[in-house]
Amino acid sequence: MFRSATSTVCLPLLLFADLSYACTRVSYTSGEKDGSRVVIGRTLDWSMPPFSSMYAFPAGLQRNGSAGENSLEWVSKYGSVITTIYDILTMDGVNTEGLHGGFLYLAGTDFGTRNSSLPGLSISLWLQYFLDNYRTVAEAKADLMNTSGAPRFQVRSRGVIPGLPTVGHLVLGDASGDNLVMEYLDGKLQLYHSHDYQVMTNEPPYDEQLMIQRYLKTMANTTLPGTPSPIDRFARMADNLRQAPVASTMTEAITIVQSLLRTISTTLRSQTASVSNAATVSRTMADTKDGRYFFESATDPVSLWVSLNALDLSPRGTVKKLSLDPRNGTGLAGRHGEATHEFVDAEPYVPLLANSEKGDGTGGSGPVTLPGIGTFPPS
Ligand SMILES: *[C@@H]1O[C@H](CO)[C@@H](O)[C@H](O)[C@H]1NC(C)=O
Ligand SMILES: *[C@@H]1O[C@H](CO)[C@@H](O)[C@H](O)[C@H]1NC(C)=O
Ligand SMILES: *[C@@H]1O[C@H](CO)[C@@H](O)[C@H](O)[C@H]1NC(C)=O
Ligand SMILES: *[C@@H]1O[C@H](CO)[C@@H](O)[C@H](O)[C@H]1NC(C)=O
Ligand SMILES: *[C@@H]1O[C@H](CO)[C@@H](O)[C@H](O)[C@H]1NC(C)=O
Repeated sequence: MFRSATSTVCLPLLLFADLSYACTRVSYTSGEKDGSRVVIGRTLDWSMPPFSSMYAFPAGLQRNGSAGENSLEWVSKYGSVITTIYDILTMDGVNTEGLHGGFLYLAGTDFGTRNSSLPGLSISLWLQYFLDNYRTVAEAKADLMNTSGAPRFQVRSRGVIPGLPTVGHLVLGDASGDNLVMEYLDGKLQLYHSHDYQVMTNEPPYDEQLMIQRYLKTMANTTLPGTPSPIDRFARMADNLRQAPVASTMTEAITIVQSLLRTISTTLRSQTASVSNAATVSRTMADTKDGRYFFESATDPVSLWVSLNALDLSPRGTVKKLSLDPRNGTGLAGRHGEATHEFVDAEPYVPLLANSEKGDGTGGSGPVTLPGIGTFPPS
């Protein structure tokens, strides 16, 4: 079917044959001595280099939902610092108010058939929309529908990598430790809202995941499932979190979350790895109390953080970028420590034009170029 495609496509096709895109997210709250600081972290598990960048987006940015006709439009109320994959999608990030969000893969997602009476929002900016507009999880949840009860937008996607639907679920977390998981199944938005939902991985849908977890929890003192599958990672992360000490300083809180993320990380795998056990390629953490954002590569000697307060994220600020691309020669290899001053002025990344009528992450028209990977034909 893709035999006529150019050679730039063939290489990724082979590499993606057993592709999986997994991840683990955790929200940790430190003790009263540390002001009940909430630190949220996640791994990015992916079979290829994600060529991520960090962006600093100020308030006052004009946004377009990039879903073709009747795209959602908004102006960012809050500034944020985020991490992309392929400079095409906001994968993780935190805003100036301490709202954090993570985008993780969820096979089986269906955003529904395009309903052009609803404004469309590209999957690229789905997470960014919440970081741009809300301070807390409760605020974001309360505003999902307009006053007539209609959804404010419809999430749109399209096929990019053959055989891998462009889909996922979101998890928001805030400085109070509140969490909201958002999943689209059969075109309908499912919400899971609780301070207890500190852990998220991938399949199955969150309600089933919680049900399985209730069972696995009963044996956690004697045995825990050990494979990289999303269910097993969920069980191990939940138990490690339960056993985590109470931090009394910022450094302790960061160290605890770092330890949770490093231990749940999937080791580097051969390319014959099966679905849902991709290697961890990076880890990010957000300190929602003091506005620090951390990035650690699992494949390059890079571990750095940025301070949101030291960036101008007000409407007077400009968009800035910190490339984390190891090919880039930006001198980040060997970089450890504060890197806030390494941001350079940039244009916002160009989101995926999410023009498929279908909601399952396939279809759509026109080629898509993923930097470092290649150009994909329409699927
Ligand atoms: C928003 O993007 C869509 C393409 O997705 C385009 O058709 C539309 O004109 C854009 N709107 C504005 C105001 O630029
Ligand atoms: C709510 O959204 C629907 C669909 O976009 C729209 O038709 C309706 O006018 C909106 N209502 C309000 C009060 O904004
Ligand atoms: C499209 O969305 C509008 C606004 O929510 C709703 O009234 C209408 O029923 C939807 N159409 C379909 C076919 O679902
Ligand atoms: C596991 O051990 C802890 C600490 O000893 C105990 O509080 C808990 O009840 C145990 N859980 C189960 C399911 O036995
Ligand atoms: C390297 O980073 C610079 C500055 O962010 C950017 O302009 C350039 O496109 C990047 N190069 C690659 C190959 O990604």
